[in-house]
Amino acid sequence: MHIAFVASECVPFSKTGGLADVVGALPKALAALGHQVSIYVPHYRQTRLTDSQIVLKSITVPFDDKYRFASVLTTDSSAAVRFYFVDYPPFFDREALYGTSAGDYPDNAERFYLFTRAVLEASKILGVPHVFHCHDWQSALLPVMLRTLYSEDPAFRDVANVFTIHNMGYQGLFPPDILPLLTLPWDLFTMSKMEFFGQVNFLKGALVFSDFVTTVSRKYSQEIQTTEYGFGLEGVLRNRAATVTGILNGVDYEDWSPQNDKFIAARYSPQDLSGKVNCKKDLLNSFGMPNADLNVPVVGIVSRFAAQKGFDLISQVVDRMAREEMIMVVLGAGDKPYEEMFQRLSKQFPNKIAVKIAYDNAIAHKIEAGADMFLMPSRYEPCGLNQIYSLKYGTVPIVRATGGLDDTIEPWDVRSGKGTGFKFTEYTGEALLATIKQALLAFRDQSSWQTLMRNGMNKDFSWGASAREYGKVYDRVRQLRAGGVGGSVVDLKKEPVLR
Ligand code: ADP
Ligand code: GLC
Repeated sequence: MHIAFVASECVPFSKTGGLADVVGALPKALAALGHQVSIYVPHYRQTRLTDSQIVLKSITVPFDDKYRFASVLTTDSSAAVRFYFVDYPPFFDREALYGTSAGDYPDNAERFYLFTRAVLEASKILGVPHVFHCHDWQSALLPVMLRTLYSEDPAFRDVANVFTIHNMGYQGLFPPDILPLLTLPWDLFTMSKMEFFGQVNFLKGALVFSDFVTTVSRKYSQEIQTTEYGFGLEGVLRNRAATVTGILNGVDYEDWSPQNDKFIAARYSPQDLSGKVNCKKDLLNSFGMPNADLNVPVVGIVSRFAAQKGFDLISQVVDRMAREEMIMVVLGAGDKPYEEMFQRLSKQFPNKIAVKIAYDNAIAHKIEAGADMFLMPSRYEPCGLNQIYSLKYGTVPIVRATGGLDDTIEPWDVRSGKGTGFKFTEYTGEALLATIKQALLAFRDQSSWQTLMRNGMNKDFSWGASAREYGKVYDRVRQLRAGGVGGSVVDLKKEPVLR
């Protein structure tokens, strides 16, 4: 089957978070199952292509007042996984992918409309897929256009589409007059389609118009149907619950394994853990703590700094945390208040908390390998990849039991010797502190701690099983289309708008 991935980031070409890891890795696993995958992403300033060729010189994208012309590049691709980059420098040759510290780029609606429309047009020449698989709000207009502007286009008559939610917290909200600017019909601006509290909601459009909606863990697929986690779209999802499912993300162990990681000071494995202490030394060196006692546990954090990630809990209990025998190393960047908070804490507790405000892949790998524990106290977490990477590195996760964190970490039970980490449920500083203390206590018994480390290291979260689940979803949406269900498998009685 030919599947076209449409997304705003993809490893190794562009990345701000886990979406890029998924879009870089899942296609390889699908190809291993015999599928053919095309990946469409924007060509950003940050996208470094060593060997690129132009495959399409000029794709016309209409706006209300003018036409814009994009081109499409490719790079060294295998027959099974092809990369296509939509090139339009006025929109994508910029300092960052989505915005700067001053805020999101004001023309993000135009940027990602142009991207998705160029993908639809380009696919007519490069190969119309059996299934478009779109990810997050940046590609959400594709299913909308497929079932509106392009609904009569014979090229797409049999094409199905699947939409994956990686994060409900980012929806793509724009003022109503964006619709005519993007040549989209006004009748999309109703409550049953894209209208959302007076604004146009791109993500909502995808949730209404996609044939199938997936998200990145089983638990999150349930959580987003509740008011607490649905960000106002829980009703839309509940309406189509029969075609919403959760498929857990996998890990690309070619990139994330202590047995072959090229960024770390020493390699190690469950059979021979001895290299991990060298990684710990190297980590403490890179964080300016060369004389730290190697017996003191190191708790690592690698994160985008955003409210989602739960770091406000640390600030609630940091005074008491600092009394514990532990060192915290933090790598992150993002929202200013959290950057400032961590910088302040590192000044207040210089021997306890070391911080780098940066986005740095090499250091992220060093933390995975060199820390003893990895902290993710997220308020919500659709899947979370770092805790799964941590398992492989024998770096024991301490997580809040939400979304994918809850699905991937099993609580440690010293009596049975089962479990892979530590979890807390209540979103409070007290619960966080109690769980950290529990982990620190467990760390004192190094022999059972090694059992705990190995339990995690021996887990297998590679992509194979999840890729097979996606394969089933693709089969299902194709059958539904072939069966003449029409534009969407959303309950047609509730959604008469869908063709
Ligand atoms: P999210 O996508 O919500 O940011 P995930 O846990 O799914 O969370 O994925 C985050 C990815 O981004 C991981 O690969 C992680 O290593 C990487 N990452 C996050 N912050 C940084 C950073 N400051 N420097 C380097 N890598 C980072
Ligand atoms: C999002 C989520 C994260 C998930 C990632 C990849 O950015 O915040 O939990 O792992 O997407 O699906």
